[in-house]
Amino acid sequence: MNMRSVMRKLSGRSRSVSGPRSGPLLATHAPDAGPDASRGVMLYLEDITVSFDGFRALNALTLYVETGELRCIIGPNGAGKTTMMDVITGKTRPDTGSAWFGQTIDLLSLHEPEIAQAGIGRKFQKPTVFEQHTVFENLELAMAGDKSVWKWLTAKLTPQQLERIDEVLTTIGLTEQRRARAGALSHGQKQWLEIGMLLMQNPQLLLVDEPVAGMTPQEVERTAALLTSLAGKHSVVVVEHDMAFVRTLAGSHGRVTVLHEGSVLAEGSIDEVQANPKVIEVYLGE
Ligand SMILES: Nc1ncnc2c1ncn2[C@@H]1O[C@H](COP(=O)(O)OP(=O)(O)OP(=O)(O)O)[C@@H](O)[C@H]1O
Ligand SMILES: [Mg+2]
Repeated sequence: MNMRSVMRKLSGRSRSVSGPRSGPLLATHAPDAGPDASRGVMLYLEDITVSFDGFRALNALTLYVETGELRCIIGPNGAGKTTMMDVITGKTRPDTGSAWFGQTIDLLSLHEPEIAQAGIGRKFQKPTVFEQHTVFENLELAMAGDKSVWKWLTAKLTPQQLERIDEVLTTIGLTEQRRARAGALSHGQKQWLEIGMLLMQNPQLLLVDEPVAGMTPQEVERTAALLTSLAGKHSVVVVEHDMAFVRTLAGSHGRVTVLHEGSVLAEGSIDEVQANPKVIEVYLGE
């Protein structure tokens, strides 16, 4: 055996040892293959610490998200919610800790585009739809991924692709608006279209940061129904301040995680966390 294959073997081994604590000892595989969620856990964050000039935005954060789970994350301003999403998507590198996508994908070894490719979709607060294009075209573009726009314009959609777009239009409730220009949609509809664009990439894990800010009460209600309908097929992590919205999303059984000063302060059903004295003190009693 030459030195290179010995090194490869060694590095494979050391990687598997630092893998998810409850996971099997496997070497990482190509992210393109998607996550292996066979243990029922889609996301492992363990002892994640992120410091900005000595200030700990995340402080030994440990959190697990199950396959198909809809998890709500709440917490006061500055608790570290967005920083957590930045770590998962590769935008911010932690000082310490580990982050695994399923059993085999070491997120800390991948760059942002590779993480998206592996199946993690992120919805930012500000919708970034192509305003000049129709709803349908936006979904078509999203499906094309990194293919050039020219290729997309000249490509003929297969029946399967057309079916997929129809399916996503139904999911996001924009079938009637399929020919409308995205720029003419309401704020809420744009948000749903952007969720639809993420869905075109078939992510296993969807991260959604404050989806209902600026929405009308009716739009908030429909967004809750949309995100709830995605759970099961996808794991969904929703960061949100709006407690009524979180209550609707989590229902009586869904797990809610409260972050505070970069760590998990409490986790449980919405009733459990709302009754937790520590939570009342730092967040709900504000
Ligand atoms: N790039 C950065 N440089 C310096 N400090 C940062 C950076 N990003 C975040 N922080 C700080 O880290 C802490 C956590 O920020 P983060 O945005 O993760 O909180 P959050 O829970 O998402 O808050 P909010 O509810 O206001 O969105 C804050 O004190 C913030 O000022
Ligand atoms: Mg934030």
